[in-house]
Amino acid sequence: MLQIDLRGKIAFIAGIGDDQGYGWAIAKALAEAGATILIGTWTPIVRIFTTSWANGKFDESRMLSNGKMMEYAKLYALDASFDKPEDVPQEIRENKRYQEATGYTISEVAAAVAKDYGKIDIIVHSLANGPEVKKPLLETSRSGYLAAISSSSYSFLSLLAHFGPHLNKDGSILGLTYMASEKAVPGYGGGMSSAKAALESDTKTLAFEAGRKWGTRVNLISAGPLRSRAAKAIGFIDCMIDYSMANAPLVKDMTAEEVGYSAAFLLSPLASAITGTILYVDNGMHAMGIAIDSPCMQQKPSEG
Ligand SMILES: NC(=O)c1ccc[n+]([C@@H]2O[C@H](COP(=O)([O-])OP(=O)(O)OC[C@H]3O[C@@H](n4cnc5c(N)ncnc54)[C@H](O)[C@@H]3O)[C@@H](O)[C@H]2O)c1
Repeated sequence: MLQIDLRGKIAFIAGIGDDQGYGWAIAKALAEAGATILIGTWTPIVRIFTTSWANGKFDESRMLSNGKMMEYAKLYALDASFDKPEDVPQEIRENKRYQEATGYTISEVAAAVAKDYGKIDIIVHSLANGPEVKKPLLETSRSGYLAAISSSSYSFLSLLAHFGPHLNKDGSILGLTYMASEKAVPGYGGGMSSAKAALESDTKTLAFEAGRKWGTRVNLISAGPLRSRAAKAIGFIDCMIDYSMANAPLVKDMTAEEVGYSAAFLLSPLASAITGTILYVDNGMHAMGIAIDSPCMQQKPSEG
């Protein structure tokens, strides 16, 4: 029987802060396939995540289909907006949620993982941040726009650049994007649409460069709307889920688990010839050109 087998592989998943998002679902799928899980959690929320884990808050969602609980081998504090310690501004260093943390820039985390585990196999980038995401693009400040690109796009490049030398020959990196990169989605503002467009373009160039340099595969999943913590902060996630249900080819809820399984495939040897690609896991929403729930579509074309 054909199976996704990641036994013996080590995966570093950046962007897990609770059990609601895509990073968690991907970690679960990789754990189900037998991979060792390392987690990168945003520095200011490390304590709340580890406390919630220790208190059993995630126990139900940690349950794997084989009856075991998902475990992680080690958690690293990570702030993917910074590459080196000298990049961290004074006010962040002094912030009380950063004061006790050390070694959370991308270069330091990559070095720490290499020291702890040697070469690893899989990197997942499941993080994004746009401080002005609620503002239309036309009203976005330069600093808000650049912050969105820095946290959401450059961080992907930087993770690959720093982890690349520590990846095994058939290693693979996966990021998460959203179709607002290519079609206007009012409400997904603050330069986040631009950040996702950069991420998608970079994926092709990075696939070439990292493929030639280390044999690493570089791919993205363009995911449908999910009620994660980050998406709830944007403010109209319920509307996007309803819209997808009304207009996508597949009329069903789209689960984080479905993205997790697709990620496990893309990160496995089964996808060994796939790189530089974007896989849509969105119930087919990206394929639609018009909204069929528009009042002018009352006479449904599919019904003649
Ligand atoms: N939820 C959706 O509808 C949706 C749709 C398509 C794509 N995505 C993408 O999926 C990915 C994961 O998001 P999610 O929706 O699962 O939400 P999430 O809240 O579970 O994940 C986002 C994570 O990014 C972390 N983060 C933010 N800034 C960071 C930084 N500077 N350094 C390190 N970590 C940082 C947050 O702490 C959080 O854990 C993102 O790239 C997002 O754009 C989400």
